[in-house]
Amino acid sequence: MNTRDTLYVKDGNLYIGEFMATELAKRFGTPLYVMDARYIAEVCDAFVAAVSRGGEGAVAFANKAFATLATARLAAAHGLWFDVVSGGELCLMQRAGADMKKVLFHGNNKTPKEIDEGLAAGIGFFVVDSLNELELLDEKAKKLGIRQDVLVRVNPGVSAHTYEAVVTAAPYSKFGFDVHTDAEEVIADIASRKGLVFRGLHVHIGSQIYDHSSYDQAIDVTVAFMKKLAGKGIVTDILDMGGGYGIYYTDEDPKFTPKRYAYTVESVARRVREKAAENGLKQPFVIVEPGRSIVGEAGVTLYTVGAIKDFPGVRKYVAVDGGMFDNPRYALYESKYSAVIANKADKPADEKVTIAGKCCESGDLIGKDIPLQHAETGDILAVFSTGAYNYSMASNYNLNAIPPVVMVDGDRADYIVKPQTYDDLLRNNTVPEWMN
Ligand SMILES: Cc1ncc(COP(=O)(O)O)c(C=O)c1O
Repeated sequence: MNTRDTLYVKDGNLYIGEFMATELAKRFGTPLYVMDARYIAEVCDAFVAAVSRGGEGAVAFANKAFATLATARLAAAHGLWFDVVSGGELCLMQRAGADMKKVLFHGNNKTPKEIDEGLAAGIGFFVVDSLNELELLDEKAKKLGIRQDVLVRVNPGVSAHTYEAVVTAAPYSKFGFDVHTDAEEVIADIASRKGLVFRGLHVHIGSQIYDHSSYDQAIDVTVAFMKKLAGKGIVTDILDMGGGYGIYYTDEDPKFTPKRYAYTVESVARRVREKAAENGLKQPFVIVEPGRSIVGEAGVTLYTVGAIKDFPGVRKYVAVDGGMFDNPRYALYESKYSAVIANKADKPADEKVTIAGKCCESGDLIGKDIPLQHAETGDILAVFSTGAYNYSMASNYNLNAIPPVVMVDGDRADYIVKPQTYDDLLRNNTVPEWMN
């Protein structure tokens, strides 16, 4: 556990803000996602200060990590921009009352409908990712009589040191245009189009990255490419270096404070500015796009322990009332988590257990070999760092309800996503007339 003043153990119990985790579990039920508003606000402030140190820039929250109206409102109040990757996330931004000029639209295969919706919403930037999108966007913008600002997603061919499934900028990625082959021609083409204005570049090298050298390499390659563009008279006003900053999940990872996480943001922005200056380029407006590092450690999932199965000398299963339907990351990436029994949080974690979900899949685990206090049926299990890519990747597999989300702000705790009912699960089911 990466403790802080809003996540701590007192008198043997885990606390989130001013609430005992067991009290939240009793009041709202389990499984339950709990988000710590103060932690999110602190990270937002630290990141905004870091990107603006030494030049102009912005932090765009990657909605894909955790997309809710409440977090959008909170992040906007702390000065954040946003990225969206679907019509749904775009709609969320509109309903949250976000400034649409501070929204970037990503996606390697935006549908014609999504392009229409983005244009109608007046979003700040489309991040163009394919020739199909470029043609369609230009055509649609011309029909509307507007010139749409675009960034171009480029692939610097840098392999980040992280899980393979979350690397996005190695050669032959499905994302973007390669700076070594087609990107230059595409950007020159945009410059000649009537419906589009080229404003800059976007790079995202992957996720859960701790190693600064991956960012440094990506920046160096991208700034060299900006220089090449400048040689053709094409100015890069904006450089968006994406997100991907690694967070704490287990004791194998660094334990940082928001200020220390912000140091990575600052070093990315600083290197962009230094490299631009070295190459005699106009200073770009620097955007960073973190998701996980803003909301990941803010989240704790609470479960009730149910069945326990011990295979002595082999494995002990502690099954909970959630699983891959609220957290599919073990099933997807074998991601690692740490956990405590919230009502025994000061007891030694002297057992190694496999935390199992309740879905009909052997791979439905929260994790293997997790150090834990002795668990008994009815205990409240808290899994840490579940704020990113848990709720946003949740499903109704086995027709389990996606757990509600409660936001804690000091001594206040309220739903930001209400519980799903069985009616919600079946709302869109219909039986064709001919089956009657
Ligand atoms: C384009 C883009 N930007 C930002 C992010 C956010 O990454 P992270 O949550 O690791 O910071 C992602 C995640 O995949 C992404 O694809």
